[in-house]
Amino acid sequence: MAADPDFAWTDDDIERLLAPVTRMLGAPTSLSPLPYDLNAGVPDVESLPAAELAEATRRALEADKGGTLTYGGATGYEPLRAWIAERYVAETGLPVTSANLTLTSGSAQAIDNIAATFLAPGDVVITGAPTYPGAIRSFLARGATIMAVPQDEDGLDMVALGDALAQQVALQHPAKLIYVIANYDNPSGSTLPVERREELARLAMRFKALVVEDDAYTGIDLEGPPPTSLYQIMGGQGILRVGTFSKTIATGLRVGWVLATPAIIKALAFMRFDNGSAPFVHRAVHQYLLTGVYDSHVEKLRAIYKERRDTAVAAVLEHCGDYVECDSPRGGFFLWLRLKHGLLANDVFEAAKRHGVAVTPGFNYYPYGGGEDRIRLVFSALPPDQLRQALLQFGQAVAEVAASTASK
Ligand SMILES: Cc1ncc(COP(=O)(O)O)c(C=O)c1O
Repeated sequence: MAADPDFAWTDDDIERLLAPVTRMLGAPTSLSPLPYDLNAGVPDVESLPAAELAEATRRALEADKGGTLTYGGATGYEPLRAWIAERYVAETGLPVTSANLTLTSGSAQAIDNIAATFLAPGDVVITGAPTYPGAIRSFLARGATIMAVPQDEDGLDMVALGDALAQQVALQHPAKLIYVIANYDNPSGSTLPVERREELARLAMRFKALVVEDDAYTGIDLEGPPPTSLYQIMGGQGILRVGTFSKTIATGLRVGWVLATPAIIKALAFMRFDNGSAPFVHRAVHQYLLTGVYDSHVEKLRAIYKERRDTAVAAVLEHCGDYVECDSPRGGFFLWLRLKHGLLANDVFEAAKRHGVAVTPGFNYYPYGGGEDRIRLVFSALPPDQLRQALLQFGQAVAEVAASTASK
């Protein structure tokens, strides 16, 4: 049938049909076409274990063609869940089994699955301010209201958290979830000290709010192991711990998971209708892990990222130390800059773009505004020589903004 031009679809027609919530959400982070991308939080490309994964994929297909290439069930490949469970037993001493795990398409889908399972429009979720924009999107997309609790250099402020939880109870509208990136926060790089973790656990239990502990960067430990996890402190009760192989093997695998009680895992599995994430990938990853190379691979990554972090901190101080402050994070992929002398992140973002460097302005990380004096820089993606060059050019951009700010 030939299309009738009188009834042709226009972009406006599509726009009119979009769910209203799509107009409330910020754009997801994307790769930048600029020469130096310090915006996208991606791993080092050279260290991706391509040959090992190719071999592992071949072995998975040969071992069980049917299992690898057909639907695998909502919670994912059991032997991979059992492998992950064993690691948690070794770490926490808690009786974790594969029944405590569901596999997801990256930890991004884990957060979305949690939001779908627990949140109705108007429900309250507590996050840090700043926090991961992907989580903000997932919660807002379900119609939730976010209460953003301030953070300092040690992460979530416990007094403000206690006040927020108490306030919601007084309003007879208790918060349902507390979302926290306790290790190497994205974007702030902060790590929650153990005393704050214990206080958070006490508050969450007292106010019966579920904790979502996002472990996206756990493993990228640049100063030794992080403090005891919230999951361990809480004895695995009232908490969903979200993990991923994105940063320690490859983002392209899209293999993440949720660790929680079997009852919670069942509820999460019930809320998805995609027949689980790819058995093909689960089985390939499992074969890769069976070779025993994972721990030494992660060790190598730590050395690579530690060098990049130190290079980035030194280059920031050298090229824009007069205008910028930053802490050196204990792990993860990010520096969280504070601009001094009234410099605005958006001006620096625009100037950096003109100098060929993509960075992320701070306001991206706040659900309701903030971060006007903050910039997030990714140190993981570029090798040290390129990182130094990028930060030299970034420093020129910052100096330009400082000169024009001073003359206003
Ligand atoms: C804090 C945090 N959580 C979750 C994710 C999602 O990662 P993935 O879906 O690749 O596991 C990211 C990605 O950058 C992140 O920074």
